[in-house]
Amino acid sequence: MLSRQHSAVILNVNSGLALVPKTSSAIYCASKGALNIFSQSLRYQLKNTQVRVLQAFLPLVDTPMTKGRGKSKMTVEKVSTEIIKGIENTILDHDIGKVKLLRLLNRLLPSLAQKIMQGS
Ligand SMILES: NC(=O)c1ccc[n+]([C@@H]2O[C@H](COP(=O)([O-])OP(=O)(O)OC[C@H]3O[C@@H](n4cnc5c(N)ncnc54)[C@H](OP(=O)(O)O)[C@@H]3O)[C@@H](O)[C@H]2O)c1
Repeated sequence: MLSRQHSAVILNVNSGLALVPKTSSAIYCASKGALNIFSQSLRYQLKNTQVRVLQAFLPLVDTPMTKGRGKSKMTVEKVSTEIIKGIENTILDHDIGKVKLLRLLNRLLPSLAQKIMQGS
C-alpha cells in the first residue's frame, strides 16, 4: 500500500484542456477537468499521509494520440524530463510548456484565453 511507504507519489497526467476547453473533444476536456477536481480532493484526503498527489498539465505532445494534428508539439523526451523534475521537486500542479502561459492568460484575461482555445 502506498500509505505504508516512506514516501509515495500519485501522478495524474492532465492537460491544459482541463483549464480552458477547446471546441472539439468536449468529453476529453470534461474528463480532464474532472481529473483536476478529483486530484485536488484526493490531495486533501491524503494530506496527513506520506502520499503526495501531483498533476502534470501537458501541452500538445507529439504522440500517436496527436498524429496528424496540431503544430509545434512538445517532444515526449522534453515532457518526460519536465515530469520527472516535477516529481523530484514535488510540484503539486506542474504546468509544462505552453500551459504555463495558458494558465496565466486564463487568470488575467479569461475571455481571450477562451477565444484562442475556441479557434484552435
Ligand atoms: N499527447 C498530448 O498532446 C497530450 C496532451 C495532454 C495530455 N495528454 C495525456 O497524456 C496521457 C498519454 O497520452 P498519449 O498522447 O501518450 O496517448 P496515446 O499516444 O494514445 O497513448 C495512450 C497510452 O495509453 C494506453 N492505454 C489506453 N487505454 C488504456 C487502457 N484502458 N488501459 C491501459 N492502458 C491504456 C495505450 O496503450 P496501448 O498502446 O497498448 O493501446 C497507450 O500506451 C493521456 O492521459 C493524455 O490525456 C496527452
